[in-house]
Amino acid sequence: MPVPNFIIIAIDGGAASGKSSSSKILAERFNLLHVDTGSFYRHITCELLRRGVPHTDLTALKAALADLRFDTRLNGRSAQMLIGGQPASSEIRGQSVNDHVSHYAAIPEVRHTLLGYQRGQVEVARAHGFRGLVMEGRDIGSVIFPRAEFRFFLNADPAERARRRAKEGGQDSISERDRLDSSRKASPLTCPAGAIEIDSTSLTLDQVVEQMTSVVATRLAMS
Ligand code: DC
Repeated sequence: MPVPNFIIIAIDGGAASGKSSSSKILAERFNLLHVDTGSFYRHITCELLRRGVPHTDLTALKAALADLRFDTRLNGRSAQMLIGGQPASSEIRGQSVNDHVSHYAAIPEVRHTLLGYQRGQVEVARAHGFRGLVMEGRDIGSVIFPRAEFRFFLNADPAERARRRAKEGGQDSISERDRLDSSRKASPLTCPAGAIEIDSTSLTLDQVVEQMTSVVATRLAMS
């Protein structure tokens, strides 16, 4: 099938599987907008925690979600989500958000709130003259862009991922988040049929990116 002028690359995978590092490099290589949807879930979580809305109170949650106004601004090649005009703070990588984000992300109303916003990044990318976008998350190749030109699923041994996260200085119970993200009913973390799965346990970041680059460049050269 010929590749259109505007391309979408979906990269899914568990926590600390290398999605962010690889998608940022691909964005640079192919002139793409980089969209980290995990940061969107983290920003919403932070905002709901700030407002004191627990994930267990669906009525309060729905009211709070209806009140959120989303915009996008660019930070280099990356899309930054603004809530009520405010960018996310460093708190989105902190312990409290790490502990709560999977609980909020499991709620269909939260996912639904972000669905249109995430798909709308195509217009953001076009408006800024990008050749396409690379979006990372858990359900990009399965739900957000199931017909993306390229869909990758990154995997790595949990112990190796925990080691990588610790090296970044992060305190994150990645196995617990993966368990919650994979077992939820709404858009669970899963390798969608037809996606290219890469196990990065014994690969360097460069090797992972080379595999992806080769898939993309080969198909682009053919069309
Ligand atoms: O990529 P990350 O670890 O920063 O993501 C934080 C959380 O957000 C993750 O534990 C699950 C949720 N998430 C999701 O449910 N769907 C996405 N597309 C992206 C993230």
